[in-house]
Amino acid sequence: MCGIVGYVGPRQAAALLMEGLKRLEYRGYDSSGIAVLNGQGLVVVKQSGKLSALEQQLTGRTPTGTVGIGHTRWATHGPPTTTNAHPHTDQSGKIAVIHNGIVENASAIRRVLEQRGHVMVSDTDTEVLAHLIGECYRGSLEEAVAEALREVDGAYGIAVISEDEPDVLVAARKGSPLLLGVGEGELFVASDASAILAHTRSVVYLDDGEMVVLTRSGYHVRDLAATRIEKPINQIEWDLATVERGGYAHFMLKEIFEQPDTVRDTLRGHLLEDEGSSRVSGLNLADDEIKQFNRIVITACGTSWHSALIGEYMLEELARIPVDVEYASEFRYRNPVVDERTLVIGISQSGETADTLAAIREAKRRGARTLGVVNVVGSTIAREVDGGIYLHAGPEVGVASTKAFTSQVIALALITLRFGRLRNLSILQGRQIIQALKALPEQIQDILDRAHQVEALAERYWRSNNALYLGRGVNFPVALEGALKLKEISYIHAEGYPAAEMKHGPIALIDENMPVMFIAPKDAVHGKIVSNMEEVRARGGQVIAIASDGDDLINRLAASTFTIPETLDLLTPILTIIPLQLFSYYVAVRRGCNVDQPRNLAKSVTVE
Ligand code: F6R
Repeated sequence: MCGIVGYVGPRQAAALLMEGLKRLEYRGYDSSGIAVLNGQGLVVVKQSGKLSALEQQLTGRTPTGTVGIGHTRWATHGPPTTTNAHPHTDQSGKIAVIHNGIVENASAIRRVLEQRGHVMVSDTDTEVLAHLIGECYRGSLEEAVAEALREVDGAYGIAVISEDEPDVLVAARKGSPLLLGVGEGELFVASDASAILAHTRSVVYLDDGEMVVLTRSGYHVRDLAATRIEKPINQIEWDLATVERGGYAHFMLKEIFEQPDTVRDTLRGHLLEDEGSSRVSGLNLADDEIKQFNRIVITACGTSWHSALIGEYMLEELARIPVDVEYASEFRYRNPVVDERTLVIGISQSGETADTLAAIREAKRRGARTLGVVNVVGSTIAREVDGGIYLHAGPEVGVASTKAFTSQVIALALITLRFGRLRNLSILQGRQIIQALKALPEQIQDILDRAHQVEALAERYWRSNNALYLGRGVNFPVALEGALKLKEISYIHAEGYPAAEMKHGPIALIDENMPVMFIAPKDAVHGKIVSNMEEVRARGGQVIAIASDGDDLINRLAASTFTIPETLDLLTPILTIIPLQLFSYYVAVRRGCNVDQPRNLAKSVTVE
């Protein structure tokens, strides 16, 4: 989704802004722009399309100047045209604003400003905000921004500069991530640390309602009412090499192949082998508190919601505690039954998804204890929950989530072990799960070593226009996730279904042109899924199966089979998903799709 980068320091801003924006490309965007203060005035250059188009605009006329802001826009108000691209300026043309989020009362503010003679050229809420800041300007940019933001409803991460104050950059956040980067004699703002990581690892995370004012002599953080706030400087642990492609054709492929390591990293330090349990101190929950919960709600979006469904199977089966999985976007607007005996777990790779954050806040408001299963350290969800577990999977750059998914399932297994051992799980069962968890990285590696077999499958099916993914039990969410992966990066229409549900409707779709992907490891429901496979075969459907090593029956029934090593039933999703991720990847590449930045998608969805 939209990206922000800003700079105040001794170096030329334009090149630094462009470099930062390139690092944010993975978030998804459809236009971009920069504004630089060049000593005489404000220069704004913006362009629809990819950053290369903006670069072309800048060739031979890159603005000089050492204070500036840059933005990648993912359209919300108005189409992705050059006019709608950020930065936007105020009525005087002296103030430039970039903005992530949505100003919900923009139409009302626009009406008032237009009555006062303001003329706006774009469809955006951001231009309205720029004009409002201009209207509030009485000699202090800092005060003008604060006054304007007091009028604004909705979410924002903004950065503002003004020709009248050539050494100042003002930034603020509410509901949209923003951080300050503190370098050697220079300062940055960014919506995502990767934009500034080449220059500094020291960051200050802003919280909602906070503003930061950057000048050549330093910075201060305050709230909209002018109260100064002392904030700690955090050190980012990962470095630039972690966010680069490292020889792989795409970030998605790199991230799929990282999974033996990322699964190991998520497990690291958490297993208590003797006790058949886990140590997850970040949960901040005493044993007695865990025993008090009578229900768990897991809330998330997209791929994270799929891992939540797997968590439901694990927690109910092994910890015998009722679990409900809710789309965060639905949970936040219902009247959910949640109280102090409910534990609400939010799962989010980015830790910034607007709906998941809002759902967590709603749960807290109702007195629930909240936990986060989050990848991005220091993200808003990670900071707002009562406790949680970090995935330590490293930055996920490919828009389609892969390694975060497997690590989320691992994290949920760790939570399950702890809860299970306090309720229903024997020490022997616990130890058996730990052994199976420890074997997973090598088993994933075994699958990855046979990626060429999946590539051959993709070669056979890449021309299809539709696909059905079927699974049962804990592999039903894998069917959903496999279908999501395929549709988001290859644009093939794909549906995931519980295999037996097929008879209640989707079976009507089956003919010789419909590949049906069965996720069918040897587990407790193996016999049932074999029957479903027969039903598809009887109607001429092309069966592709993900089966366990040595499963001759499925090998005979399916037109194509890919096998996975055996593990405990509840852990099979961590293995069955790997060939499905690879399948989507190879199909998308074969179809010439932009794998890492699929159309219309954004990496972290910070608007509703
Ligand atoms: C799919 C995908 C999305 C995200 C969803 C939630 O590949 O990446 O469906 O899973 O937008 O994002 P997070 O986990 O960052 O809250």
